[in-house]
Amino acid sequence: LASTDVPLGHIAEGQAVTVMWRGKPVFVRHRTGAEITEAKAVPLGELRDPQPDSARVQREPWLVVLGVCTHLGCVPLGQKPTDARGDFGGWFCPCHGSHYDTSGRIRRGPAPANLTVPEYNFTSDTQIRIG
Ligand code: FES
Repeated sequence: LASTDVPLGHIAEGQAVTVMWRGKPVFVRHRTGAEITEAKAVPLGELRDPQPDSARVQREPWLVVLGVCTHLGCVPLGQKPTDARGDFGGWFCPCHGSHYDTSGRIRRGPAPANLTVPEYNFTSDTQIRIG
């Protein structure tokens, strides 16, 4: 399918879902206030791939990124409540130890770039369409 609709209403704050889009996992996370604050507070100078959080989200609570590590393409951990989320509270790639923050930005480890934000739109307050 070229596009994938994702209903958001059932995703509680602090929870995440994984959907498939064009054969790749997409992570949709309903961020907590603390996660948003943390993502916005990071000085750009500390980032390997400098992007403000505001350039990565359309609505602050909702982070939408490809679940594909930008190092060699493993699927990072952090979607399940029991998963390791790494040192920056986002995702951790177990293949070679890349740590991503609550904006999906690379913070430590070999990955060269932030998790990719796919093309998507809000089709209502409770649904997005990816692609
Ligand atoms: Fe993720 Fe290497 S593929 S750290």
